[in-house]
This record gives sequence, structure tokens and C-alpha cells, in this order.
Amino acid sequence: MDFKDVVRRRKMVRSFTDEPVPAEVVRRILDTARRGPSAGFSQGVEFVVVIDHETRQKIAEPAQQTVDVSGHHNFIAQAPVHVVVCVSPEVYRSRYREPDKMTVVAEIDEEALWVVPYWHTDAGAAMLLLMMAAVDEGIAAAFVGGEADLLHELLAIPQEYIPIGIALLGHAAPDAGQFGDVSARRMTRRPYHDVVHEGRW
Ligand SMILES: Cc1cc2nc3c(=O)[nH]c(=O)nc-3n(C[C@H](O)[C@H](O)[C@H](O)COP(=O)(O)O)c2cc1C
Repeated sequence: MDFKDVVRRRKMVRSFTDEPVPAEVVRRILDTARRGPSAGFSQGVEFVVVIDHETRQKIAEPAQQTVDVSGHHNFIAQAPVHVVVCVSPEVYRSRYREPDKMTVVAEIDEEALWVVPYWHTDAGAAMLLLMMAAVDEGIAAAFVGGEADLLHELLAIPQEYIPIGIALLGHAAPDAGQFGDVSARRMTRRPYHDVVHEGRW
């Protein structure tokens, strides 16, 4: 698919059919997602792919409270594939203590060094790459926040890894007209000149 089409078609899908995603398609999506940039080539992002129905229902349980109040459907429970995107700050902290980095950062204390936590940057990049790879495969995707304690316990994610959220993959169902609160309030994208500052802010 043309890159511009991938970008344009990438929308958070909040309604999935129960049609499964073939294993080789999931594998290709993840193979692309792992090719994102990482600060110092730290490569601190990892993924947990969940297909098992019961486990996905447990992952979706915290969202049920919101669903019960709002009357929306639980689209997390619907999606046939969950990919939990995880990142370890410790991988970055130790990478930047290696000799090639220490020459640059030796004088900077730990707090000043991580004003911009690169692990979040890299996890975001991986997440977007994953979404775009899904679109390129004709697969619908969404990204939602998850409950860290639950994900740690349920999926045996090591404590040093932060589960930043869950990418949902599947086939789009006819839109049930149900949007998250954020999307409902902000249906339009901010115009180009609101967000792009040419020369200076
Ligand atoms: C870090 C992050 C967390 C998000 N969490 C949720 C979520 O928990 N539930 C949800 O419905 N959408 C979630 N979204 C989707 C955004 O609401 C969505 O990206 C935004 O409304 C723009 O719509 P679009 O991605 O379809 O262009 C999240 C997006 C990001 C980047």
C-alpha cells in the first residue's frame, strides 16, 4: 500500500468482528513493529502477543466499568489479537552508562539526562509502526491504555518493563457509532498552521 494511504487510513477502530487474524499476518506486523528507531539503539521495547480468548477477556475487564457506565460496547474484549507494548527504562539507563555514551553524558546527572525519557519516545514509535504495519496488511487496529498491575500479573511481564498499553488488531466491524470520550469531543484534526511553526514558534 502507498505510504500516504497507510497514514490516511490509520484510524483507531473501536468495533471488531470475531474473524481471527492469520498467525503469519500477526507475525509480519510484529516483524515490522520491531524495526523502529531507539535511542542509542537501546532496543528496550518488547511485545506480548495474546490470542487466547480467556486471557483477552481478562485484559478487557478493567474497561468493562467504563462500558457499563457509558453503554458502549467493550471493543477491547472483541479484538481477536492483543499486543501489549512494553518498555524497560533500565535498558536505556544502562545503555547510556556505556563508554561511548558516558563521554557525552558523564557530567549530566541522572535526572537531567532523562528529562525526555527516551523509553517513552521509542515505545510510541514502536506503537505507531505497529498500527501502520497493521493498516498495510489490511488489518484494523486501535491502541488503548492498560492496567499495568493486571498486565504484569496475567502475562508474567518482568517488573522492570512498563506495559505502555495494548494494540488491538482485528477486522473492522461496521462502525457502531461509539467513540471514546476524547474522539467524541475532538472530531477534527488541528489545522496545519496551528501545529507547524515555520522558522520559530
Ligand atoms: C497513548 C494513547 C492512548 C490511547 N488510549 C485510548 C484509550 O484508552 N481508549 C480509546 O478509545 N482510545 C485511545 N487512544 C486513541 C485516541 O483517542 C486516538 O488516537 C485519537 O482520538 C485520534 O484518533 P485517530 O487515532 O483515529 O486519528 C489512545 C491513543 C494514544 C496515542
